[in-house]
Amino acid sequence: MKDKLSLLKNEARQEILNSSTLQEVEDLRVKFLGKKGQLTEISKGMKNLSAEERPVVGQLLNEVRTEITDMLESKKIEITKELKAKQLEEEVIDITLAGKKTNQGSLHPITETTDLLKKISMDMGFDIADGPEIEYVKYNFDMLNIPESHPSRDITDTFYISDDVVLRTQTSAVQIRYMQEHKPPFRMVCPGKVYRPDYDVSHTPMFHQIEGLMVGENISFANLKAILTEFIEKIFGQGTRVRFRPHFFPFTEPSAEMDVECVICKGKGCRVCKGSGWLEIMGCGMVDPAVLEAVGYKADEVSGFAFGMGIERITMLRHGIDDLRAFFENDMRFLKQFK
Ligand code: DAH
Repeated sequence: MKDKLSLLKNEARQEILNSSTLQEVEDLRVKFLGKKGQLTEISKGMKNLSAEERPVVGQLLNEVRTEITDMLESKKIEITKELKAKQLEEEVIDITLAGKKTNQGSLHPITETTDLLKKISMDMGFDIADGPEIEYVKYNFDMLNIPESHPSRDITDTFYISDDVVLRTQTSAVQIRYMQEHKPPFRMVCPGKVYRPDYDVSHTPMFHQIEGLMVGENISFANLKAILTEFIEKIFGQGTRVRFRPHFFPFTEPSAEMDVECVICKGKGCRVCKGSGWLEIMGCGMVDPAVLEAVGYKADEVSGFAFGMGIERITMLRHGIDDLRAFFENDMRFLKQFK
């Protein structure tokens, strides 16, 4: 039996040395150490041994088993290492290759400008307000001191849902809602969608405005000029020149239109400003006492100013876009430019 064991060990060593795949190693394990393997076969002879010999041979048997197991194990490690090395050599990864592009979305330019306007407003102490797009005639027109006969109330200028409900035509409606809920002093802005039945090169049935309102004791036209000038400088850059022209709005008295030096030609005169060097940027004025009284304020105790501007227009001027419709066509080539 001792000879058989030593022969088996040598045979196993040789075959393990010659093996070259993990499968071969596994086959050898079965062949030598498996349940029906050669070692098991030899150990069956134990029962024929004498009582003295048995423990000696038993120990030898265990040693051989351990040795073969160790040889198989180290062969396995060796093959695995070689496989890994070969794989590393073959599968070269060129880390200088350009990666796969993933598509990243971006904010719509109107959203981006609205966010900027909100940020500037908040920095200047304005509260951000909100109001419904489906609005009562009362808020959109009546309480803003807009007379019954005013042309903006015509069905050619306003989408009516019923006699007293419309799609709001101006964010000015939120002024009334805000004043009814707040006591002066306050300053607020309200950006949002507005609707008018227009559709041509420079008009779309839905567009965006931002409305502003500041009310308190002794608020003057000088405050209006100072704050709106700073507002515009924050949008278009320090030192951007502005001017105020007298105008009329039913809800402000006196009213003005504010112009900004043409951002394209810097005031020299070009196609965009039609040679004037100025661009109309917003309507503004001192809140009409009739509006203050309509919300229950005392017009001899508080005063305020209001302003409203088109967000599409601001966006077009900021980015040099000359076609309003580009905002609504969702052409990816256009939108991708605003990352
Ligand atoms: N609501 C006006 C419009 O849609 C814009 C406007 C003008 C708003 C003067 C104001 C304002 O608050 O004071 O044309």
